[in-house]
Amino acid sequence: MRILSSAFISAASLLPNLASAVTFDCSQINADGYKYNLKPLGGVHEIFHAEQVGDLIVNTTYVLNICNVLGSAANFEEYKCGTSRRICGFNRTLTADHTSVQSGFAFPIAGLEHMGQGAIDTKVTRLKNEDSDREGLRVKLSGGKYEEPDTKKKKNAGAVIEFECDPGRSGLEGLVEEDSKRLLRAREEGEDGGDGNNEGDGNGEEKEPFSDGSDPDRSLQFKSFGKADDDSYVLSLNWKTRYACDHYTEGRGSSSNHWGFFTWLIIIFFLCAAAYLIFGSWLNYNRYGARGWDLLPHGDTLRDVPYLFQDWLRRVVNTFQGTGSRGGYSAV
Ligand SMILES: *[C@@H]1O[C@H](CO)[C@@H](O)[C@H](O)[C@H]1NC(C)=O
Ligand SMILES: *[C@@H]1O[C@H](CO)[C@@H](O)[C@H](O)[C@H]1NC(C)=O
Repeated sequence: MRILSSAFISAASLLPNLASAVTFDCSQINADGYKYNLKPLGGVHEIFHAEQVGDLIVNTTYVLNICNVLGSAANFEEYKCGTSRRICGFNRTLTADHTSVQSGFAFPIAGLEHMGQGAIDTKVTRLKNEDSDREGLRVKLSGGKYEEPDTKKKKNAGAVIEFECDPGRSGLEGLVEEDSKRLLRAREEGEDGGDGNNEGDGNGEEKEPFSDGSDPDRSLQFKSFGKADDDSYVLSLNWKTRYACDHYTEGRGSSSNHWGFFTWLIIIFFLCAAAYLIFGSWLNYNRYGARGWDLLPHGDTLRDVPYLFQDWLRRVVNTFQGTGSRGGYSAV
């Protein structure tokens, strides 16, 4: 049994997509019989929370992808947290003028370990279960580890994300897709290098106003990071999005929904036609003792259908030929 499961785990780690599908599928969430698809919120997103501690600034950047592993986004500057993770934190203590990093470390919050070991242990509950006024989902992801800075003890870590129903928001407001963000950062660094020559105004502009990283317009909000009752560390996030609404159907496989609708329409049409024919035939049989073609309602018309069709086809063909070579013929 153990050999089997470890073989499965190593096979799964070769295919990160499969591994994540096995653990938590953001596009197929089921809770209390409701279905949710959070796929549009997938992709790597980043927020930070900064605090002034004495002279220093502790800036913790949280990087997450609820639908897949982080991949290269799990590397932040020189800090590495494991590419098979889904949520990582990067804690950097900056000097007060925030020109340089004094110390820093990366910590995994949720996701699998390097070779696919561990478990995400997803727990999904509807917010309505606790508060009938709130609509949405609470998703708990775990599998992370956090080393307490003061005790150096390793504790379990996880994240609790409350996806709150907000029909007016996609959830991506205020978020920048990580790829373009990195590009931007690289470009800014390049510009800084260029400006380095004229150091005259450099000192004055060095210190931008302190921001703790919050942005009230952003759909994804940092709530807290700290120790929970069960001695584990929990990152709490709040995410406003229409995809957490109980009755959000648009975009959820809409094409297959439409296909289903038309299939039903066609089936119903044929059922009605069949019922009409059968009932009509039965009526003709009983009332008029009809046999053969006469059984069918409108039997005469039906018998003519092939001829009518032939006639119609001939006319169509003539029209096309007429416009091509023999102009004017079709008008006759
Ligand atoms: C914290 O780090 C982020 C990068 O993740 C950066 O954009 C932000 O400006 C930093 N904030 C402070 C106050 O240093
Ligand atoms: C970041 O690290 C500093 C110093 O190591 C610590 O005081 C602080 O609590 C940490 N914060 C987080 C969110 O990990």
